[in-house]
Amino acid sequence: MKNLFSYEGKRCLITGCFSGMGEATARIVQSLGGEVVPVDIKKPTTFPFEKFYEVDLKDPVAIEQMVADVASGGPIDRLFYCAGLPNTFDRLDIMLVNFVGLRHTVETAVPHMPRDAAAASISSAGGMGYLGQMQNILPFLATQGFAEGKKWLEEHLDDGWIDGYASSKMCTIVYTLQRGPTLTTETGVRLNCISPGPTDTPMMPAFVEATSQEFMDNYPKPVGRNSTPEEQGWPMVFLNSDAASYISGENLYTDGGTAGGLMTGSVKLDIPAGMGD
Ligand SMILES: NC(=O)c1ccc[n+]([C@@H]2O[C@H](COP(=O)([O-])OP(=O)(O)OC[C@H]3O[C@@H](n4cnc5c(N)ncnc54)[C@H](O)[C@@H]3O)[C@@H](O)[C@H]2O)c1
Repeated sequence: MKNLFSYEGKRCLITGCFSGMGEATARIVQSLGGEVVPVDIKKPTTFPFEKFYEVDLKDPVAIEQMVADVASGGPIDRLFYCAGLPNTFDRLDIMLVNFVGLRHTVETAVPHMPRDAAAASISSAGGMGYLGQMQNILPFLATQGFAEGKKWLEEHLDDGWIDGYASSKMCTIVYTLQRGPTLTTETGVRLNCISPGPTDTPMMPAFVEATSQEFMDNYPKPVGRNSTPEEQGWPMVFLNSDAASYISGENLYTDGGTAGGLMTGSVKLDIPAGMGD
Protein backbone atom coordinates (compact mmCIF):
# COMPACT_ATOMS: atom_id res chain seq x y z
CA MET A 1 0.00 0.00 0.00
CA LYS A 2 1.25 3.50 -0.84
CA ASN A 3 2.48 5.43 2.22
CA LEU A 4 0.32 8.56 2.10
CA PHE A 5 2.36 10.17 4.88
CA SER A 6 5.54 10.07 2.79
CA TYR A 7 7.11 13.39 1.74
CA GLU A 8 9.53 11.79 -0.77
CA GLY A 9 10.01 14.14 -3.74
CA LYS A 10 8.10 17.02 -2.16
CA ARG A 11 9.58 20.54 -1.94
CA CYS A 12 8.29 22.12 1.25
CA LEU A 13 8.55 25.84 1.91
CA ILE A 14 8.55 26.35 5.69
CA THR A 15 8.40 29.81 7.32
CA GLY A 16 9.47 30.26 10.94
CA CYS A 17 11.79 27.34 10.21
CA PHE A 18 14.49 28.07 12.76
CA SER A 19 12.53 27.90 16.01
CA GLY A 20 9.75 26.14 17.87
CA MET A 21 6.95 24.53 15.87
CA GLY A 22 8.44 25.51 12.49
CA GLU A 23 11.72 23.77 13.27
CA ALA A 24 9.88 20.72 14.64
CA THR A 25 7.76 20.60 11.48
CA ALA A 26 10.85 20.87 9.27
CA ARG A 27 12.63 18.06 11.08
CA ILE A 28 9.57 15.80 10.69
CA VAL A 29 9.27 16.68 6.99
CA GLN A 30 12.94 15.80 6.50
CA SER A 31 12.50 12.51 8.38
CA LEU A 32 9.66 11.63 5.98
CA GLY A 33 11.88 12.27 2.94
CA GLY A 34 10.80 15.82 2.07
CA GLU A 35 13.02 18.67 0.89
CA VAL A 36 12.87 21.65 3.26
CA VAL A 37 13.11 25.15 1.80
CA PRO A 38 13.66 27.20 4.96
CA VAL A 39 12.43 30.75 5.51
CA ASP A 40 12.88 32.86 8.64
CA ILE A 41 13.74 36.41 9.67
CA LYS A 42 16.90 35.08 11.29
CA LYS A 43 19.78 32.83 10.32
CA PRO A 44 19.83 29.12 11.27
CA THR A 45 21.76 28.27 14.42
CA THR A 46 20.99 24.73 15.59
CA PHE A 47 19.41 23.60 12.30
CA PRO A 48 22.03 23.93 9.54
CA PHE A 49 21.14 24.70 5.91
CA GLU A 50 23.44 25.69 3.05
CA LYS A 51 20.65 27.69 1.41
CA PHE A 52 17.99 29.53 3.33
CA TYR A 53 15.82 32.60 2.84
CA GLU A 54 16.22 35.41 5.35
CA VAL A 55 12.88 37.17 4.90
CA ASP A 56 10.85 39.63 6.95
CA LEU A 57 7.27 38.48 6.39
CA LYS A 58 6.06 42.07 7.01
CA ASP A 59 7.67 42.96 3.68
CA PRO A 60 5.52 42.02 0.65
CA VAL A 61 8.33 42.58 -1.87
CA ALA A 62 10.64 40.28 0.11
CA ILE A 63 7.88 37.64 0.12
CA GLU A 64 7.39 37.98 -3.65
CA GLN A 65 11.14 37.78 -4.35
CA MET A 66 11.53 34.75 -2.08
CA VAL A 67 8.60 32.89 -3.69
CA ALA A 68 9.87 33.71 -7.22
CA ASP A 69 13.34 32.44 -6.37
CA VAL A 70 12.02 29.26 -4.73
CA ALA A 71 9.72 28.64 -7.72
CA SER A 72 12.62 29.07 -10.17
CA GLY A 73 14.09 25.89 -8.66
CA GLY A 74 10.93 23.77 -9.06
CA PRO A 75 7.34 23.49 -7.86
CA ILE A 76 6.29 24.40 -4.34
CA ASP A 77 4.58 21.18 -3.31
CA ARG A 78 3.81 22.11 0.27
CA LEU A 79 3.69 25.39 2.20
CA PHE A 80 3.95 25.50 5.99
CA TYR A 81 3.44 28.98 7.44
CA CYS A 82 4.78 28.58 10.99
CA ALA A 83 6.18 32.10 11.56
CA GLY A 84 4.46 34.29 14.09
CA LEU A 85 4.78 37.02 16.70
CA PRO A 86 3.36 36.85 20.26
CA ASN A 87 1.30 39.52 22.00
CA THR A 88 4.33 41.39 23.36
CA PHE A 89 4.88 43.05 19.96
CA ASP A 90 3.29 46.06 18.26
CA ARG A 91 -0.32 45.28 17.27
CA LEU A 92 0.09 46.19 13.61
CA ASP A 93 3.29 44.13 13.30
CA ILE A 94 1.53 41.12 14.83
CA MET A 95 -1.37 41.45 12.37
CA LEU A 96 1.07 41.78 9.46
CA VAL A 97 3.31 38.81 10.30
CA ASN A 98 0.60 36.48 11.65
CA PHE A 99 -2.09 37.15 9.08
CA VAL A 100 -1.38 39.59 6.20
CA GLY A 101 2.02 38.00 5.51
CA LEU A 102 0.45 34.55 5.70
CA ARG A 103 -2.25 35.46 3.18
CA HIS A 104 0.28 37.11 0.88
CA THR A 105 2.66 34.15 1.02
CA VAL A 106 -0.15 31.68 0.23
CA GLU A 107 -1.63 33.74 -2.60
CA THR A 108 1.82 34.47 -4.10
CA ALA A 109 2.90 30.83 -3.89
CA VAL A 110 -0.30 29.25 -5.26
CA PRO A 111 0.49 29.88 -8.97
CA HIS A 112 3.65 27.82 -8.42
CA MET A 113 1.90 24.96 -6.64
CA PRO A 114 0.74 21.80 -8.44
CA ARG A 115 -2.90 20.65 -8.23
CA ASP A 116 -2.25 18.13 -5.45
CA ALA A 117 -0.36 20.68 -3.33
CA ALA A 118 -1.36 21.94 0.11
CA ALA A 119 -0.74 24.80 2.51
CA ALA A 120 -1.12 24.84 6.29
CA SER A 121 -0.63 27.55 8.88
CA ILE A 122 -0.65 27.93 12.65
CA SER A 123 -3.47 29.86 14.27
CA SER A 124 -4.04 29.47 18.02
CA ALA A 125 -6.58 28.48 20.63
CA GLY A 126 -6.44 32.24 21.29
CA GLY A 127 -8.39 32.66 18.01
CA MET A 128 -11.27 30.54 19.27
CA GLY A 129 -13.61 33.57 19.60
CA TYR A 130 -13.73 34.19 15.85
CA LEU A 131 -17.46 33.51 15.49
CA GLY A 132 -18.22 36.51 17.73
CA GLN A 133 -16.08 38.81 15.54
CA MET A 134 -17.28 37.81 12.07
CA GLN A 135 -18.87 41.22 11.43
CA ASN A 136 -15.44 42.82 11.94
CA ILE A 137 -13.28 40.17 10.33
CA LEU A 138 -15.15 39.68 7.04
CA PRO A 139 -14.81 43.33 5.83
CA PHE A 140 -11.07 43.14 6.57
CA LEU A 141 -10.75 39.83 4.74
CA ALA A 142 -12.47 41.40 1.72
CA THR A 143 -9.30 43.46 1.16
CA GLN A 144 -7.06 42.18 -1.63
CA GLY A 145 -3.30 41.87 -1.29
CA PHE A 146 -0.77 43.04 1.27
CA ALA A 147 -0.90 46.82 0.72
CA GLU A 148 -4.70 47.01 0.85
CA GLY A 149 -4.80 44.79 3.94
CA LYS A 150 -2.18 46.93 5.71
CA LYS A 151 -3.97 50.18 4.80
CA TRP A 152 -7.28 48.80 6.13
CA LEU A 153 -5.58 47.83 9.39
CA GLU A 154 -3.97 51.26 9.80
CA GLU A 155 -7.39 52.86 9.37
CA HIS A 156 -9.21 50.45 11.72
CA LEU A 157 -6.56 49.71 14.35
CA ASP A 158 -8.57 51.38 17.10
CA ASP A 159 -11.97 49.89 16.21
CA GLY A 160 -11.77 47.85 19.44
CA TRP A 161 -11.37 44.25 18.28
CA ILE A 162 -7.77 44.38 17.03
CA ASP A 163 -5.71 43.38 20.09
CA GLY A 164 -2.94 42.07 17.83
CA TYR A 165 -2.55 38.42 18.76
CA ALA A 166 -6.05 36.96 19.19
CA SER A 167 -7.34 39.10 16.32
CA SER A 168 -4.57 37.84 14.01
CA LYS A 169 -5.39 34.26 14.93
CA MET A 170 -9.13 34.78 14.39
CA CYS A 171 -8.36 36.19 10.92
CA THR A 172 -6.20 33.16 10.15
CA ILE A 173 -9.04 30.80 11.03
CA VAL A 174 -11.70 32.73 9.09
CA TYR A 175 -9.38 33.08 6.06
CA THR A 176 -8.76 29.33 6.15
CA LEU A 177 -12.47 28.47 6.44
CA GLN A 178 -13.45 30.97 3.74
CA ARG A 179 -10.58 30.65 1.24
CA GLY A 180 -9.88 26.91 1.59
CA PRO A 181 -12.94 25.84 -0.40
CA THR A 182 -12.54 28.41 -3.20
CA LEU A 183 -8.79 27.84 -3.49
CA THR A 184 -9.28 24.11 -3.77
CA THR A 185 -11.99 24.50 -6.42
CA GLU A 186 -9.91 26.97 -8.45
CA THR A 187 -6.47 25.34 -8.19
CA GLY A 188 -6.71 21.98 -6.41
CA VAL A 189 -4.53 23.36 -3.60
CA ARG A 190 -5.83 22.55 -0.11
CA LEU A 191 -5.65 25.13 2.70
CA ASN A 192 -5.90 24.31 6.41
CA CYS A 193 -4.70 25.53 9.80
CA ILE A 194 -4.15 24.24 13.30
CA SER A 195 -5.04 25.96 16.58
CA PRO A 196 -2.56 24.89 19.25
CA GLY A 197 -2.90 25.31 22.98
CA PRO A 198 0.09 26.34 25.14
CA THR A 199 3.24 24.84 23.65
CA ASP A 200 6.75 24.85 25.07
CA THR A 201 8.64 26.84 22.44
CA PRO A 202 10.84 29.96 22.69
CA MET A 203 7.59 31.98 22.38
CA MET A 204 6.23 30.77 25.73
CA PRO A 205 8.02 33.37 27.93
CA ALA A 206 6.34 36.11 25.87
CA PHE A 207 2.90 34.67 26.66
CA VAL A 208 3.80 34.63 30.35
CA GLU A 209 4.96 38.25 30.08
CA ALA A 210 1.79 39.31 28.24
CA THR A 211 -0.53 37.50 30.67
CA SER A 212 0.99 36.06 33.88
CA GLN A 213 2.50 32.82 35.12
CA GLU A 214 -0.74 32.25 37.06
CA PHE A 215 -2.77 32.62 33.86
CA MET A 216 -0.61 30.13 31.96
CA ASP A 217 -0.57 27.69 34.90
CA ASN A 218 -4.37 27.83 35.25
CA TYR A 219 -5.12 27.70 31.53
CA PRO A 220 -7.23 24.53 31.08
CA LYS A 221 -5.17 21.65 29.70
CA PRO A 222 -7.13 18.39 29.53
CA VAL A 223 -3.91 16.48 28.76
CA GLY A 224 -2.43 17.89 31.99
CA ARG A 225 0.60 19.64 30.47
CA ASN A 226 1.73 21.96 27.71
CA SER A 227 2.22 20.54 24.22
CA THR A 228 5.66 19.91 22.73
CA PRO A 229 6.58 21.57 19.39
CA GLU A 230 6.58 18.11 17.77
CA GLU A 231 2.98 17.54 18.90
CA GLN A 232 2.08 20.55 16.72
CA GLY A 233 4.47 19.65 13.90
CA TRP A 234 2.88 16.25 13.32
CA PRO A 235 -0.66 17.60 12.77
CA MET A 236 0.78 20.19 10.36
CA VAL A 237 2.59 17.42 8.49
CA PHE A 238 -0.60 15.34 8.43
CA LEU A 239 -2.73 18.21 7.01
CA ASN A 240 -0.21 18.79 4.23
CA SER A 241 0.22 15.07 3.49
CA ASP A 242 -1.64 13.03 0.88
CA ALA A 243 -3.35 11.28 3.81
CA ALA A 244 -5.40 14.48 4.20
CA SER A 245 -6.31 14.74 0.50
CA TYR A 246 -10.02 15.34 1.28
CA ILE A 247 -9.41 17.98 3.95
CA SER A 248 -9.53 21.67 3.06
CA GLY A 249 -10.87 24.79 4.74
CA GLU A 250 -10.38 23.15 8.13
CA ASN A 251 -9.23 24.57 11.46
CA LEU A 252 -7.91 21.69 13.57
CA TYR A 253 -7.81 22.35 17.33
CA THR A 254 -4.53 20.84 18.55
CA ASP A 255 -5.11 21.86 22.15
CA GLY A 256 -5.73 18.52 23.86
CA GLY A 257 -9.47 19.15 23.99
CA THR A 258 -9.63 22.65 25.54
CA ALA A 259 -11.69 24.30 22.78
CA GLY A 260 -14.29 21.55 22.65
CA GLY A 261 -14.58 21.56 26.42
CA LEU A 262 -14.94 25.33 26.64
CA MET A 263 -17.57 25.41 23.88
CA THR A 264 -19.67 22.70 25.52
CA GLY A 265 -19.06 23.61 29.17
CA SER A 266 -17.20 20.44 30.15
CA VAL A 267 -14.02 22.48 30.69
CA LYS A 268 -14.06 25.66 32.79
CA LEU A 269 -11.98 28.79 32.32
CA ASP A 270 -10.99 29.79 35.90
CA ILE A 271 -8.91 32.73 34.72
CA PRO A 272 -9.68 36.37 33.94
CA ALA A 273 -12.03 36.54 30.94
CA GLY A 274 -10.73 37.88 27.65
CA MET A 275 -7.16 36.67 28.02
CA GLY A 276 -6.03 34.06 25.53
CA ASP A 277 -2.66 32.38 25.01
N1 LIG B 1 3.96 28.53 21.69
C1 LIG B 1 2.64 28.54 21.92
O1 LIG B 1 2.17 28.30 23.05
C2 LIG B 1 1.69 28.83 20.79
C3 LIG B 1 0.32 28.53 20.97
C4 LIG B 1 -0.56 28.75 19.94
C5 LIG B 1 -0.09 29.23 18.73
N2 LIG B 1 1.22 29.53 18.55
C6 LIG B 1 1.66 30.01 17.24
O2 LIG B 1 2.53 29.06 16.67
C7 LIG B 1 3.37 29.69 15.68
C8 LIG B 1 4.82 29.26 15.91
O3 LIG B 1 5.23 29.82 17.15
P1 LIG B 1 6.30 29.13 18.11
O4 LIG B 1 5.62 28.90 19.40
O5 LIG B 1 6.98 28.01 17.41
O6 LIG B 1 7.26 30.38 18.34
P2 LIG B 1 8.79 30.66 17.99
O7 LIG B 1 9.04 32.03 18.49
O8 LIG B 1 9.63 29.55 18.50
O9 LIG B 1 8.83 30.65 16.40
C9 LIG B 1 8.35 31.71 15.63
C10 LIG B 1 9.23 31.87 14.41
O10 LIG B 1 8.72 32.93 13.59
C11 LIG B 1 9.81 33.70 13.12
N3 LIG B 1 9.39 35.06 12.78
C12 LIG B 1 8.91 36.00 13.63
N4 LIG B 1 8.71 37.16 12.98
C13 LIG B 1 9.06 36.94 11.68
C14 LIG B 1 9.06 37.77 10.53
N5 LIG B 1 8.72 39.05 10.57
N6 LIG B 1 9.48 37.22 9.37
C15 LIG B 1 9.89 35.92 9.32
N7 LIG B 1 9.88 35.09 10.38
C16 LIG B 1 9.48 35.60 11.56
C17 LIG B 1 10.79 33.68 14.30
O11 LIG B 1 12.10 34.09 13.90
C18 LIG B 1 10.70 32.25 14.75
O12 LIG B 1 11.59 31.42 14.06
C19 LIG B 1 3.11 31.18 15.85
O13 LIG B 1 2.20 31.61 14.86
C20 LIG B 1 2.45 31.28 17.22
O14 LIG B 1 1.62 32.41 17.34
C21 LIG B 1 2.12 29.34 19.57
